[in-house]
Amino acid sequence: MAAAVAAGFFPPALVLLILAATEQTVSVSWVVAALVAGAVFAGWSTLAVARVWTSRAERIETVAASLEKRQPPPHLIPDERDAMGRAERRLLDAADGVVDEVESLAEQRDEFEAILRSMTEAVVVTGSKGDVVLLNAPARRMFALSPDASYRGRDFIELCRDARLQEFVSRSTASGEGQVTSAEIALQTPAPRHVSVSVAPVRRSGAGGAAWVFVFHDITQLKTYETVRSDFVANLTHEIRTPLSALYGYAETLARGVDDPETQRRFLGIIEHQARRLSRLIDDLISLSDLERGLTPLKFDDLEAASVLRDAEELMREQARREGVELSVDCHGDLPLMRGDRDRLHQVMLNLLDNAIKYTPRGGTVVASARAAASAPPESRPGVELVVSDTGEGIPAADIPRLTERFYRVDRARSRELGGTGLGLAIVKHIVQLHGGSLKIESKLREGTTVTVWIPAAASAAAAATGTSGT
Ligand SMILES: Nc1ncnc2c1ncn2[C@@H]1O[C@H](COP(=O)(O)OP(=O)(O)O)[C@@H](O)[C@H]1O
Ligand SMILES: [Mg+2]
Repeated sequence: MAAAVAAGFFPPALVLLILAATEQTVSVSWVVAALVAGAVFAGWSTLAVARVWTSRAERIETVAASLEKRQPPPHLIPDERDAMGRAERRLLDAADGVVDEVESLAEQRDEFEAILRSMTEAVVVTGSKGDVVLLNAPARRMFALSPDASYRGRDFIELCRDARLQEFVSRSTASGEGQVTSAEIALQTPAPRHVSVSVAPVRRSGAGGAAWVFVFHDITQLKTYETVRSDFVANLTHEIRTPLSALYGYAETLARGVDDPETQRRFLGIIEHQARRLSRLIDDLISLSDLERGLTPLKFDDLEAASVLRDAEELMREQARREGVELSVDCHGDLPLMRGDRDRLHQVMLNLLDNAIKYTPRGGTVVASARAAASAPPESRPGVELVVSDTGEGIPAADIPRLTERFYRVDRARSRELGGTGLGLAIVKHIVQLHGGSLKIESKLREGTTVTVWIPAAASAAAAATGTSGT
């Protein structure tokens, strides 16, 4: 500004000096005129300089405002002829760079958050002192935490209330080793479940922020499958060992020589009985495993319930007569056709009738019947119920939910004695499921049991039913 003022006064001062030098008289009016001209020039040049400064200050303000909003600054081209202009240009370039970097960091953060959100595993990131840096939604669910509260800075050990997990967390973070540690832990709190947890250190350039990443994988289901499988193997070995040792024992005795022909016949009878039992067991196992692995493709047809019931009754009539049980079929009325595989539904009926006859004492009755019935609401699809009811010994209520498990029997010894394998109802359940149907077992001790299988109606019957209900 001082330079601008000086520049304004310089020309009139110069004129005065020239006049003085050429020895002309410099009157007061000349001096006053020179001062006025100087003041006008100084005001004019100060105004010009101020205008340039203001526009530069405005440009810098705009850059700062854009940076505050994390937005790219407007490209107002600075005059780069002087140092100030060049500084402005550098500021503009630096601001562009910062905004680009902020944008790409925000993008990375969004990606990272999206990945964390979509993970089914629970993820917890903690600082070096075990303070929570972040946790995703599955982690909140696993530790029964609020879905939207901020836990940043809280002690992770405090949040996972399970003692075994707390021990794992403090052990793995205390080690300070830069390696991944993992373990399988049976959690008790907040709910019993098995988790596989791994913890890895975060590579960091400076102190503070994330130090450890914990990833929790819920393996409860996997553990259940493992238990089911090992139970199955244990049961199977047991089922096979009993007849095998009988076969082995009696065959060995016969080989050593038995003089009494009656004893010989009895032993041979036992061997045959046990061999048949083994063969039944193998047949049932193959049947079940084929069904489970989808190796028994169903051949769907439109079937009459009455013919399925009659075929099964015909095959079981002799067994019922031998056991002194009255077997009858009760199927009348206009039933819709069922959509099913004849052989597989035949297998279902044989299993149900076999059970009913086996577990009904002499003099009892077994009735196989069919009736039209819709499935449970809200679907209410039209279908047919195949019902087998007996006046037998019944099943304790506590056992009913487990009857379709493989090898589950109410009385193991009695089922074996009657030639059962413990797989019949498991096979029935699978076949019914493959038909899209349902199975219901109701029973009263010493009064009898009713097993109901619901099978969907054939398309034509279903259409007719909807047509009727629509009118
Ligand atoms: N109608 C029934 N009356 C009484 N108990 C039954 C009846 N049906 C099934 N059960 C019980 O359910 C168990 C499982 O049946 P299932 O899987 O067919 O095996 P299995 O007939 O080879 O014993 C039987 O051992 C028996 O205890
Ligand atoms: Mg059975």
